[in-house]
Amino acid sequence: MADKIRVGALISGGGTNLQAIIDACTNRTIDADLVFTGSDKPEAGGLERAQKAGIDTFFVDYRPVIKQAKESLDRLDIPGDFNFEEIRQKQKLLGPDTPADRVRTFLVSRAVAESRLLDAIRPYQIDLLVLAGFMRTLTPYFIDRFHEGENTHRIMNIHPALLPSFPGTDGYGDTYRYGCKVGGCTVHYIDYGEDTGPIIGQKAFEIKDGDTLEDVKKRGLELEWQLYPECIRKFAETVGKRKIS
Ligand code: GAR
Repeated sequence: MADKIRVGALISGGGTNLQAIIDACTNRTIDADLVFTGSDKPEAGGLERAQKAGIDTFFVDYRPVIKQAKESLDRLDIPGDFNFEEIRQKQKLLGPDTPADRVRTFLVSRAVAESRLLDAIRPYQIDLLVLAGFMRTLTPYFIDRFHEGENTHRIMNIHPALLPSFPGTDGYGDTYRYGCKVGGCTVHYIDYGEDTGPIIGQKAFEIKDGDTLEDVKKRGLELEWQLYPECIRKFAETVGKRKIS
C-alpha cells in the first residue's frame, strides 16, 4: 500500500466539498487519509458529515473571541509567540489606510483564535491542510507555522471564481452580477493575501443567457467537487509527505 498523506480540513458550512474529499479518500481516488475536520463554528453542517465518516472533529468558535477583542484586548489570552509588529508587516489582508486600532484588533483576535486552531491541529501531524468552504482568512501567524519560506505551501483553498477575478466571500455572486459569460472555480495555495496565492487548478463553465445565480452556483459546485480531489491528488503525487508539527 502506498504511503498515504495525512490531510486535515477546515470548514464553515455544509461541507459538500468536504464530502467530495471524504469520498475520494474512501474510494482511493487519492492516496490520503482525512484525519480531522475543524470549523470556526460549532453549527457547521460539514462537521456532521465528518462524524458520519468516522473522522475526528473540533471547532474553535471565532465569534466570542472577536466580540471580546472589540470590547477590549486586555482580557484576551494572547499567545506568547505572537509578535504583533512582525505579523503587521507581513500581512496583506488589510490595506495601508486601515485605522491602526482596527489592524490591532483584527490581528490580535485572529492570533488568539488561530493559536487555538493550531493547538487542535498539531497532534494530527498532517502533511496538508485544505480549506473547504472555510470563511475566515488566515494571518501570517497561522500560515508561517505551516509554510517554511517560499514555495513550501501546505495550505490549499477552493475559491468559487476564476482567480484572480472576484476574490472575496461571494465569488459566484460577483461573477454573475458582473455579467460574465464564463464562471469557474480555483484551487490555490494560501499566501498572506486574500485569495492571491499560487494557482494549482481551475475549471470553467459557460454562463448562458437566462441562467440564474442558483444555476451558476450549482454548476460551479459540481465542478468544485471534481477539482478539489484532483488537486489534492496532484499534491499527494508530487509534493507528498512532510509532517506539519
Ligand atoms: C464553496 O462554493 C467554496 O468554493 C466556497 O464556499 C462554498 C462552500 O461550500 N468558498 C469560499 O467562498 C471561500 N472564500 P461547501 O461547504 O458545500 O463545500
